[in-house]
Amino acid sequence: MTPHIEAKKEEIASIVIMPGDPLRCKMIAEKYLKDYKLVNQVRNQLAYTGTYKGKRVTVFSSGMGNPSMGIYSHELFSVYGVEEIIRVGSCGAFSEDLGLYEVVLVENSYSHSNYYQELDDKNDRLLESNKELNQIIKDTANKLNIELNIGNVYCTDVFYNHVDIPYLRDNFNCIATEMETFALFSNAKKLGKKASALLTVSDNLITHEETSSEERQNSFNQMIELALESIK
Ligand code: HPA
Repeated sequence: MTPHIEAKKEEIASIVIMPGDPLRCKMIAEKYLKDYKLVNQVRNQLAYTGTYKGKRVTVFSSGMGNPSMGIYSHELFSVYGVEEIIRVGSCGAFSEDLGLYEVVLVENSYSHSNYYQELDDKNDRLLESNKELNQIIKDTANKLNIELNIGNVYCTDVFYNHVDIPYLRDNFNCIATEMETFALFSNAKKLGKKASALLTVSDNLITHEETSSEERQNSFNQMIELALESIK
C-alpha cells in the first residue's frame, strides 16, 4: 500500500499498461482481460489485474500530466516491483502527414518540465524509452500489420500552451505532443526499469482536426491490442 494505491503488493503484475483515463482501464479490463479484479479505486484512479492470453497484466490509470503519472509510475516501480510500463495514450500531431488515429511509438520525450531535475538533480531534457521493449513492440506491430510512426514527442505541462512547433520539430525531431511520457521515462531511468509509450493521434495542431471522445475510444483498441500482444 502507498498513500495513493490501496492494492496489496501481490495484486499488481510485473507488467503494467497505463492509459490516462480510469474509464479506459475499465474498458480494457472488460474487453480484453480474463479473471480480472479491481485492485485500486483510491481517487477513482482505477486499476485492474487479470490475464491476457495467459499472461498476467495490470492496467492502471495514470491520470493527466507529469505530476500524476510521476506519482503512480514511481510507486508501481519502487513499491510494487513493477519492471515494465507501457503508456497507451493520445497525442496532438505536429505535421499534416500524421493523421488522426495513426499510432506513434515514442523514441524520446523532450520536455521543459522540471520533473527529472527535481527527481534526480540532473538537467536532461531528452529522455529515451526502452529500446528492448520498443523492438518487441515494432516486431509485434509488423506481425499485426499495424503501421507505426516512430519518433520523438514534446511532453508539455501546459495543455493550453503557446507551442513553437517549428522549433520543436527542427531541433528535437518532435512529431507530436502529449503530457505524461517525461515523468514516466524519468522514473524508469532513475529506478532502472523499462518504459515505453504508444500514442494515437487525437488531434492535429496544424490542420486543427479533432476526434470526438467516442471515436477516440474506438481508435484506441488497435493500440491497446498492440500493447497487450507485446507483453512477454
Ligand atoms: N496537447 C497536449 N497533450 C495532448 C494533446 C495536445 O494537443 N492531444 C492529446 N494529448
